[in-house]
Amino acid sequence: MSAETKKDGGSGQLPQVGIVMGSDSDLEVMKAASDVLQEFGVAIEMTVASAHRSPQRAATWAATARERGIKVIIAGAGHAAHLAGAMAAHTSLPIIGVPIDSSCLQGMDALLATVQMPPGIPVATMAIGKPGARNAGILAVQILALADDGLAAKLEAFKQNMAAKVEQKAKKLENSI
Ligand code: RP5
Repeated sequence: MSAETKKDGGSGQLPQVGIVMGSDSDLEVMKAASDVLQEFGVAIEMTVASAHRSPQRAATWAATARERGIKVIIAGAGHAAHLAGAMAAHTSLPIIGVPIDSSCLQGMDALLATVQMPPGIPVATMAIGKPGARNAGILAVQILALADDGLAAKLEAFKQNMAAKVEQKAKKLENSI
């Protein structure tokens, strides 16, 4: 089986978001990013590459992303997580980093390694773990929606749906006391 997966939800679109993770053991967390992108109907490409274990593969994947049609990269890694930064070193596409809670330090190490980029090489760093991966997917949709009115409308509906759920929960709680 190929290490790289392309998912377009049957639309036949070229992948617009590339998701890369340091190990297949990160997939359980990073699936939160691919799930939300699929909810929005955004075609993705997903693979494994490591800044430390396979630096050449990571560099080539990042350097060729733009020519494959990718517009945003989401990179998730744990431990001394340099993957998002390595992506940013090899492309001018926007990079969203997800620190994975796979080490004894429960992702604090990955958070600091991902967020503390030197001036000139930004990485938009999300929260640790699954919430961060879900937000990475939503942020990627928001970036794409700058040039896609259909996605912008879906984002509006998404926000209204969240607010409606809070209303329902508030009513339920208020009626229970
Ligand atoms: C990091 O090391 C990966 O991103 C993963 O979070 C962690 C453990 O990798 P495995 O040993 O499970 O392959 O590079």
